[in-house]
Amino acid sequence: MVEMIRKSSTDEIVNHLILAGSCILLMLTGFGFLFHVDAIGSVFGGFNTMKTVHNWLGIAFALSLLYSLHHYLIESLEYDADDLQWFKVAGGYLSHKVKVPPMGKYNPGQKLYYLAVVAFGFAIIISGIGLWFFQDNRTVMLLSHIIHNVSFVVLVIAVPVHMYLGTLANPGTLQIMVNGMMPLKDARKKHPKWIKAIGKM
Ligand code: HEM
Repeated sequence: MVEMIRKSSTDEIVNHLILAGSCILLMLTGFGFLFHVDAIGSVFGGFNTMKTVHNWLGIAFALSLLYSLHHYLIESLEYDADDLQWFKVAGGYLSHKVKVPPMGKYNPGQKLYYLAVVAFGFAIIISGIGLWFFQDNRTVMLLSHIIHNVSFVVLVIAVPVHMYLGTLANPGTLQIMVNGMMPLKDARKKHPKWIKAIGKM
């Protein structure tokens, strides 16, 4: 039998599902508004209902993003010499000849991805509140539109890259999202510093 190790706790898994589900639906409905795609609007029974759904999905996204802070924020702010070396060899993604340094629980690419989700996620949430509640204020509306759209562009690029890296590019990783587990043998190879720190090396 393959010995497994838990990488994500149950609350991390559930929160990631809420974050991912709300984010993807927000991007889809947001895309529908931006380009006035009737086909997307009709799925929600028209643009008015879609706006209500979009606003409330924004609340779910905001709460799950806030909750995710205690899962990933501290680790995402810590970088050591191996992390800097990881950037120099581009994580080994561009060449198989380079030596990838030993990693902790998350690699620096994942940490930066999280910081981007936090920065642009909160920017899109705050500007969304502006668009929802301050429709009589021209300055707030103008600024909110700009911030909401710029953040949308960043997230609409970053999230699909993350989805690709979590599925097709790294077979086996998706299991962590679903049940939180990964084979201990793989974890020793991919995350030796984390495995050492928890005494399972
Ligand atoms: C359905 C699409 C998605 C898939 C298949 C997916 C897949 C995954 C997987 C497999 C992990 C675990 C990686 C590991 O522990 O090594 C993960 C972690 C994570 N995901 Fe997703 N994810 C998706 C959508 C999202 C979305 C929409 C967001 C945020 C907007 C998000 C944010 C995160 C964060 C913050 C982590 C933890 C740290 C990191 O890997 O950067 N995910 N995801």
